[in-house]
Amino acid sequence: MILCRTPEEARRFRADLYRQGRSLGLVPTMGWLHEGHLTLVRTALTENDCVAVSLFVNPTQFNNPEDLAAYPRDEKRDRELLEALGTHLLYAPGATAVYRPGHLTSVRVADLTEVLEGGYRPGHFAGVTTIVAKLFALFAPDRAYFGAKDAQQARVIEQLNSDLDFGIEIRVLPTVREDDGLAMSSRNVRLAEAQRPMARLLYGALSAARASIARGGADAESVRAAMRMVLGKGEGVRVDYVSVADPRTLKELDGVINRPVLVSLAAYVGDVRLIDNLTVEPPGAP
Ligand code: PAJ
Repeated sequence: MILCRTPEEARRFRADLYRQGRSLGLVPTMGWLHEGHLTLVRTALTENDCVAVSLFVNPTQFNNPEDLAAYPRDEKRDRELLEALGTHLLYAPGATAVYRPGHLTSVRVADLTEVLEGGYRPGHFAGVTTIVAKLFALFAPDRAYFGAKDAQQARVIEQLNSDLDFGIEIRVLPTVREDDGLAMSSRNVRLAEAQRPMARLLYGALSAARASIARGGADAESVRAAMRMVLGKGEGVRVDYVSVADPRTLKELDGVINRPVLVSLAAYVGDVRLIDNLTVEPPGAP
């Protein structure tokens, strides 16, 4: 596995692949890799000649300095995991190699970034779209891999890819969960054992929403209320939002649910902020 620390090194690797006519899959990550990330890498390895993984805890997407400081990091372990899978290149730049002194450019996707996570994490998506646009421009991959775990992020990146004519095939793969349903996340390591039952309520709330939508005739507002009720069972759970939205526009829906919807939520368990979602179809949806 080749290790690159600077954009220049990564660009040389890309140029070699072009010359050899080999396809490239890109998996952007912030490290502390778990089975969710590794599934993206494994899939990328089956669909491309070469796979590049980026590992960069992107400071500009953290709206909260404590969250950035507390973000878990273990590059050596990540490197070993990626090497064992057969990853071809790891791009792990330092912050100053990415945002060089005098950096002035930022990429913003309108509307889609103003709702849900965007409403609670100001500036977050501008950080995400700027770093992803930089990675797309640098690697010009044939395919790029993202997780449905961050459904809004995936939707925003699809829009970015289309609007800026990157022409990359965006692959969004299903959320990988722990046995108890909790979505895998680098932040789960910060949960105390006693907080796990509360963290599990997130998937519990989504499952309740799915069950009620699957029965048919469910009303969006009553689904949101049902999710709040499940989350309310956890004493240390503080809800940011529960949402039943259009998967494309991410706008909240009202009335009877008669087409596929994105059901999502964000909540704090102690001081750890968790998000999760499911895409759910009512019976007989078009
Ligand atoms: P990070 O949180 O490290 O996630 C990297 C990729 O792994 C994202 O596409 C995310 O959706 C996916 N992922 C995380 N948990 C997953 C799970 N349980 N199942 C499936 N996929 C999962 O998302 C980011 O980093 C950053 O915002 C990034 C896109 C790298 C830009 O900095």
